[in-house]
Amino acid sequence: MKILAIETSCDETAIALLDCTGSIVKPKFKVLEDVLHSQTKLHEQYGGVFPMMAKRSHTENIIPLLLSVLKIKKIETEVKLENSKIKEKIKKILEKDRGLFEIFEKYIFSIKKPKIDAITVTEGPGLEPTLWVGINFAKALGLLWNIPVFGVDHMQGHFFSVLLNRKKMPLKYPALALLVSGGHTELVLSKKPLKYEVLGKTRDDAVGEAFDKVARILGLPYPGGPQISKFAEIARKEKLSKNLIDKKIILPRPMIHSKDLDFSFSGIKTAVLYLTQKLGKIDGQVQKEIACEFEEAVVEVLVSKTSKAIETHNPKTLIVAGGVSANKYLKNEINKLQKTYPDLQILFPDKKLTGDNAIMIGMAGYLAIKAGQKSTNKMVAQGNLKISD
Ligand code: KG4
Ligand code: ZN
Repeated sequence: MKILAIETSCDETAIALLDCTGSIVKPKFKVLEDVLHSQTKLHEQYGGVFPMMAKRSHTENIIPLLLSVLKIKKIETEVKLENSKIKEKIKKILEKDRGLFEIFEKYIFSIKKPKIDAITVTEGPGLEPTLWVGINFAKALGLLWNIPVFGVDHMQGHFFSVLLNRKKMPLKYPALALLVSGGHTELVLSKKPLKYEVLGKTRDDAVGEAFDKVARILGLPYPGGPQISKFAEIARKEKLSKNLIDKKIILPRPMIHSKDLDFSFSGIKTAVLYLTQKLGKIDGQVQKEIACEFEEAVVEVLVSKTSKAIETHNPKTLIVAGGVSANKYLKNEINKLQKTYPDLQILFPDKKLTGDNAIMIGMAGYLAIKAGQKSTNKMVAQGNLKISD
């Protein structure tokens, strides 16, 4: 089955074309095309994502990305669509995304219907204005080409992002997932494919959000995760080489001893703020030490709660996915769990699939189709969609 996948839930516009075969338990995925436009540069100056600006950028980039996926370089002649009923319907679908219909009319009407069996698109969770761009675009394409459209849960996308390039070893259930991104931090248990139970989640900030906010406090650019991680690594190496055991900078490990599997990261961000206020002017060295202590505190909590969930639920697989799963220190510390749980299959996505992408939306979409999900043209953006819905 050939799937065209679209992702616009936050600040990446992404489209992929996948060839999907196999069953729910043993799927096989081949990525035929994969393109992505990141809005990082656009949002960097503000230190975070502005939904309406993000929406405009998605609207501007989604058609060039589709043309690139379909390998269409130049439109020879503009074709006027004969079926004006369809044209009117598409116009109505795209009317809220300013300018999108005009470009759609100019470029997409003249394309020959591609060999695609299904279109999958992120329907939530995420920023509603940006989700709508992808959803409306998918609906318009589906209508024009008469191809079924399926909504995909973004977090299920992250969950299944570990499946790419896993031809031999299928995912073993029950699978426990630590999903860590800019908008989410949750421990999810999946006893069988496509069934989820949220064991614990953040009560306030997501872990990626905490990385971004702490980076801002330290004067580091957005997104903060990679920057903090880089600084922390340097500080850790220096500490080791100088044998510096006595730490001057100490941050809390929020909720590490709580009996539940919930998280809280807003207090640690505030602790960093107070610390910097107390220290006054902070130089590069202190910046690195705070980054290091912050990363270690956060990772300690994530690993501790994950171990607790493993102890209680005895999963066969542990998935760590989402933007923060690119963090090298987290990966190292999680992999240490292998010693205690030698039979546990520990899976991280390829680096390229840690952040938002369309490949994961294609893979999760394929599995949902295989499980019998129906296509719909009534799909709406669901900013707060829950993985267990
Ligand atoms: O999954 P993602 O790309 O988007 C959302 O769905 O939110 O996650 C983005 C988040 C950002 O907060 C970013 O700072 C964080 O992932 N991130 C990292 C690293 N790389 C990205 N956090 C810690 N360490 C990293 N290396
Ligand atoms: Zn994400």
